[in-house]
Amino acid sequence: MTREELCQKAVEMLPRAYAPYSRFPVGAALECADGAVFTGCNVENAAYGPSICAERTAVCKAVSEGRRRLSRIAIAADSDDFCPPCGVCRQVLREFAGEELEVLLTNRRGEIRTLTLGELLPWSFDSGNLEGR
Ligand code: THU
Repeated sequence: MTREELCQKAVEMLPRAYAPYSRFPVGAALECADGAVFTGCNVENAAYGPSICAERTAVCKAVSEGRRRLSRIAIAADSDDFCPPCGVCRQVLREFAGEELEVLLTNRRGEIRTLTLGELLPWSFDSGNLEGR
């Protein structure tokens, strides 16, 4: 799948977002090492705290379907700006991907910006750190 196609899948999730409080829909499309793609959207809650981001929705779908190795994620914002993944999502992605994970950001203008997880979350904490106890 091309970068544009993965971004398009993230854009297609924007109408599924449940974001009545922030009115900030986000869509995600996550590609796993075996090529399987899982999508996600943000799902908010009246109590605010239980809200979940689009990226983590997609990660939970992938892991619950038996995928633990991620290779790319596209994140779509219905905004002129890009939507960089929040800190919690960066850490959750790091659990199932290395620093080389490709992160594609796309906006309402159809622009695409490509980064790596390592750029977004340098010197990250992972399971290897627990082994140094
Ligand atoms: N949001 C995401 O879905 N992903 C991010 O990485 C940043 C923020 C959502 C959470 C909330 O529903 C809305 O955007 C506003 O913060």
